[in-house]
Amino acid sequence: MSYQSSWRSPSNIALIKYWGKKDPQLPLNPSLSFTLSECYTEMTVSAELETGFSLKVMYNGIPKPSFGQKINDFFKKLDTCYPWLKNASIVIESKNTFPHGAGIASSASAMSALALCLQSIHDDFNEKEPDDNNWFQHVSEIARLGSGSACRSVFPVAALWGKTSTVRDSHDRYAISWKEHIVPVFHTMQDAILIISDEEKSVSSSAGHQLMENHPYALSRYTAANHNLQRLMDSLEKEEGMDEFISIVESEALQLHAMMMSGATPFILIKPNTLNAIQEIWRFRKESSIPVCFTLDAGPNIHLLYPVEYATTIEKWISSRLVEFCSGGQVIFDHVGYGPVKLS
Ligand code: PMV
Repeated sequence: MSYQSSWRSPSNIALIKYWGKKDPQLPLNPSLSFTLSECYTEMTVSAELETGFSLKVMYNGIPKPSFGQKINDFFKKLDTCYPWLKNASIVIESKNTFPHGAGIASSASAMSALALCLQSIHDDFNEKEPDDNNWFQHVSEIARLGSGSACRSVFPVAALWGKTSTVRDSHDRYAISWKEHIVPVFHTMQDAILIISDEEKSVSSSAGHQLMENHPYALSRYTAANHNLQRLMDSLEKEEGMDEFISIVESEALQLHAMMMSGATPFILIKPNTLNAIQEIWRFRKESSIPVCFTLDAGPNIHLLYPVEYATTIEKWISSRLVEFCSGGQVIFDHVGYGPVKLS
């Protein structure tokens, strides 16, 4: 019996950062992200059942055995959800709209796309119709086992992952949609990703999470993340919440990197041009009063966030003052988006 499923799934950018986890891939603090639109993975998974297990991974049309280990580890966690998986020949064909290793969370889009495809195949196999809300919640839980941040990518606009006392439905095992709690201006947010460096990161996210164990500031960080989350949720509910939004988002980005720099085995992922760009962003915001701010992933690249009404001015400013800090002048223009799309 053969089955096939294709999905497009976007990346996401965390505003409140998840950094630190416990088994089985559960977060040590809640996080909240915007779902992106233009940075996505398109994936087709083909499964030939009852043939014995095999896995072939193709990326941009080329065999990529190096991705196999992470996917095999993911599959091992799915034995009970998808019993058919351990006896199937799986072919994964995947492509990204953004360069792999460009410091954009490619694991979020790829692992969410994989979870979506696997669940669709599972439904076909069981001749089950997906029911909307619980379906995405379940896929979010599966995606989390592949990559923590991937669990947030399956929801449109924004997602909250991790238990927080003020949100009854919040959970460590899956993300929930945060779209309904956000006023229109934040739905229009643009994300210009300044590629400061497209080199492969020197320390992976998994290693980074691990270094939070026994980190001298871990508990203060988790307290700060919880506090920032409450403030961010408040600011997202108000049209006049932009100043507060900016201050929280930038502080979260810098706290993430401060954790990297202050553990027992310190490491630095930002580059001199990350700091040059940040100085320029602060100068420009002060001078223009335009509500533009930055956040950072676990890498040197800058996500520049601003409402769509300022897009023309910001794009001119990027060309004249920020592009010089980008590797090969690369900038990816993205914006808040509407979540995954089933392709077949
Ligand atoms: O999902 P992971 O294990 O790649 O971790 C992602 C960590 C950050 O991107 C730095 C923060 C986040 O919440 O996405």
